[in-house]
Amino acid sequence: MRGVPIRRRSLLLAAGVGGLIAALPRVVRAAPVDKDVRLTPAPGRVALVGTPYPETNVWCYNGTVPGPEIRLRQGERIRIVCDNRLTQGTTIHWHGIRVPNPMDGVPYVTQPPIEPGRSFTYEFAVPDAGTYWYHPHDHSSEQIGRGMMGAFVIEELTPLPVDREVVWVLGDFRLVPDASIAGGFDNPMEMSMAGRIGNTVTINGRVPTDFAVRSGERIRLRLINAAAARIFGLEFVHHRPIVVALDGQPIAPHPPDGGRVILAPAQRIDLVLDMTGKAGSKSSIVDTFYRQMAYRLVDLAYADSPPLRAKPLAPPATLARNTQPEPDLARAQRHIVTLTGGMMGGGSMSGMGMGMGMMGGDRAMWAINGTAIVGDDMRHMKPVLTLTRGKSYVLAIDNRTAWYHPIHLHGHSFRVITRNGRSTKYRAWRDTVLIPPRERAEIAFVADNPGDWMFHCHILDHQDGGMMAVIRVT
Ligand code: C2O
Ligand code: CU
Repeated sequence: MRGVPIRRRSLLLAAGVGGLIAALPRVVRAAPVDKDVRLTPAPGRVALVGTPYPETNVWCYNGTVPGPEIRLRQGERIRIVCDNRLTQGTTIHWHGIRVPNPMDGVPYVTQPPIEPGRSFTYEFAVPDAGTYWYHPHDHSSEQIGRGMMGAFVIEELTPLPVDREVVWVLGDFRLVPDASIAGGFDNPMEMSMAGRIGNTVTINGRVPTDFAVRSGERIRLRLINAAAARIFGLEFVHHRPIVVALDGQPIAPHPPDGGRVILAPAQRIDLVLDMTGKAGSKSSIVDTFYRQMAYRLVDLAYADSPPLRAKPLAPPATLARNTQPEPDLARAQRHIVTLTGGMMGGGSMSGMGMGMGMMGGDRAMWAINGTAIVGDDMRHMKPVLTLTRGKSYVLAIDNRTAWYHPIHLHGHSFRVITRNGRSTKYRAWRDTVLIPPRERAEIAFVADNPGDWMFHCHILDHQDGGMMAVIRVT
């Protein structure tokens, strides 16, 4: 929190004994914290599927999948102590929240990995309202794939008036028949294709049955895709959801394109959902993203009780804009970013000389501007772009592969200004943009947050297989 008065004792210290300040940074700098949280990554056992299946061995935060929901108000400050009880290193990344670089949770770039038995304290203020999430950034594909994830909700100062707010963390696990998680993470074949898509979709860590609703009620549904690779395309049969925020950032309320809510890994969507069905009725939410694998995600089950209100509500208002600066498109500096690699269907890799001049050897299956960071160790990585603090940039991201890539930039939100050369309708603010095979998108932002920021595909197998780079802001 800016502008918080320094306590008088600290002022005295600062005035009288300058030399002591360095030794006492906490006393001098400490801003009051609004919330203290402890997150303990450790093995656990949870009922992902439910009876008659046994519980599943997972890795998770504080014993649950997803981990505890973190909830703050815009502008508040939080301290989170992470106590690592896993048998390997970890970190926590606060996906989409514009934190100072040292708090970003990227191993070897912003902090060393938190070794087993050790702890690390994160502390930051949250500048923007919206729906975010947290997850490890070390051994990401296995740690997230085994259950480490959680919702991070930052409430607006003026909340949207609704009857009920619901958060759904969508997960996707690959289970074997006894409901335990299949091994074989980092399978090279999958890494070079769509990534590790699971066979068991969960809502808030549980295979869903019915979701109880009441006729006439208005729900704000915060959807978070915490899956390692699965893209969702949700259709709300007989209902008309209205999109009010993407990746936490407000947008003019509108129905989703073609009636389908597309949610790629790491993306979030806030919907306003009016329960227009009849008391006692049921209707489904189906996921049709992969057309041959369409399935029913969950049923909305209406209570028998009379409707909550007689008349339908007016459409929802637009949420207040967040605090990120507006890019100056006329003066923005432009860069091209190419995505290459992966299987082409005929079994060949595309668009890059495999291994040629790239780091990481065998596992480099993907590249950004011809370079690849493989695994988590980025110590020797040069930034793919160096941007000047405070300047506006347009990055033209060119997906030259045969696969979908949800591309995420840390530390900033950006506007998606064009797709395949055409202006987008809403110029949405996002932190993760899904780029279909052989398509292009331009994103625009002000590089206002200094540090080394990861820029990567959020299909975790692609991230591991080289589709990750560093963008430096100095
Ligand atoms: Cu959701 Cu680099 O992270
Ligand atoms: Cu990808």
